[in-house]
Amino acid sequence: MPSLLCPLLAVCLYLQLPDGQAWIPGYSNGFHYQDISNGNGNGEIYFNGVRLHVESPKTSVSATRGGSVTLPCHYHYEPELQAPRKTRVKWSWLPANIVSAPASPAAFAKETDVMVAMGNRYRSFGSFQGRVRLRRTAQGDMSLVINELHVNDTGRYRCEVIDGLEDESVTVDLELRGVVFPYYSQKGRYHYNFLGAQQACQDQDAALATFDQLYTAWEEGLDWCNAGWLADGTVQYPITVPRDGCGGVDLAPGLRSYGQRHRLLHRYDAFCFAASVKGDVYFLKHPTRLNFTEAVEACASNGSQIAKVGQLYAAWMLMGLDRCDAGWLADRSVRYPITKARANCGPLEPGVRSFGFPPPYQKFGVYCYR
Ligand SMILES: *[C@@H]1O[C@H](CO)[C@@H](O)[C@H](O)[C@H]1NC(C)=O
Ligand SMILES: *[C@@H]1O[C@H](CO)[C@@H](O)[C@H](O)[C@H]1NC(C)=O
Ligand SMILES: *[C@@H]1O[C@H](CO)[C@@H](O)[C@H](O)[C@H]1NC(C)=O
Repeated sequence: MPSLLCPLLAVCLYLQLPDGQAWIPGYSNGFHYQDISNGNGNGEIYFNGVRLHVESPKTSVSATRGGSVTLPCHYHYEPELQAPRKTRVKWSWLPANIVSAPASPAAFAKETDVMVAMGNRYRSFGSFQGRVRLRRTAQGDMSLVINELHVNDTGRYRCEVIDGLEDESVTVDLELRGVVFPYYSQKGRYHYNFLGAQQACQDQDAALATFDQLYTAWEEGLDWCNAGWLADGTVQYPITVPRDGCGGVDLAPGLRSYGQRHRLLHRYDAFCFAASVKGDVYFLKHPTRLNFTEAVEACASNGSQIAKVGQLYAAWMLMGLDRCDAGWLADRSVRYPITKARANCGPLEPGVRSFGFPPPYQKFGVYCYR
């Protein structure tokens, strides 16, 4: 029964090879091994050097929340095989907050299983169940298709091809298009511990921003002189125009970091990340201005819900929502989105303007989400 014994035999024979003969020095992507598992049908065993290559044309892919994405991964053998081999594929994942966490380098963090497949059988895990499949449009195509992307699906995905005793892998980073916004509590500044900040972002249909997301937002001009929690448990703030009270004028522009803070005891604001929303955010046309209670009811009787802050930011950034009318939002804040800055609509840059949290009896318009 050569086909059963050979994997073991291969190891034994392999170990008996003199040093340096089996491995090709300097060869990084792929492995080289002496394969004896393909008998010639006469019970004879032969050696042939076969190399497994696993590749992805992209190291990072950007997608839209609620949509689908394909993370490319292909493998092939060199030289090409005559007979198909039993190859296993495993996709696993490091969430974005772990990838960028300075305290727990990604190399040591444990990856979470997404899917394992062998032949036509496969199994998916956790929150990926029912949402993932392999593309398989060609021989060796092990690209992962993820549907109904969640805001927290971002991170580093690993495509690992396992052939007998050896395996080879590549990684692909998944990013979601979205927007980072600073968020503070109705109860005042620097109110949230880490869990509170996580919850606050979630309540606004967003998630705590990762370091990479805040960094990108800073590159795009975000300047905010209040420190907020990030998904990795650090506290930072982005400064594009150095000034006193924000790290000082002598410090170069950049992210100012307090590093890891105590997740229960220390209190700050939050940086949230809102990815695109499936529905529509709109300013409700209503004959009169509304207090907060009336605003909630007005959206409800229009067959929708009062919009959350993350939804307003996403609509502003990704769908160009522009409206020079202040409106209530679900957290009792009042804001309005401006993409084309103009007179009487706030500062000279585009942005979501905020009136903070006015008393709920004051009258404004309202933004609804449907
Ligand atoms: C990600 O979000 C989904 C819902 O959007 C939730 O079911 C899942 O538990 C979350 N996963 C993690 C790791 O937070
Ligand atoms: C409710 O929404 C519809 C669109 O679906 C709109 O035509 C209508 O004017 C809205 N009602 C109010 C009271 O604004
Ligand atoms: C808003 O106005 C309604 C009357 O239209 C009143 O019953 C309600 O108490 C008011 N709510 C607030 C928060 O002032």
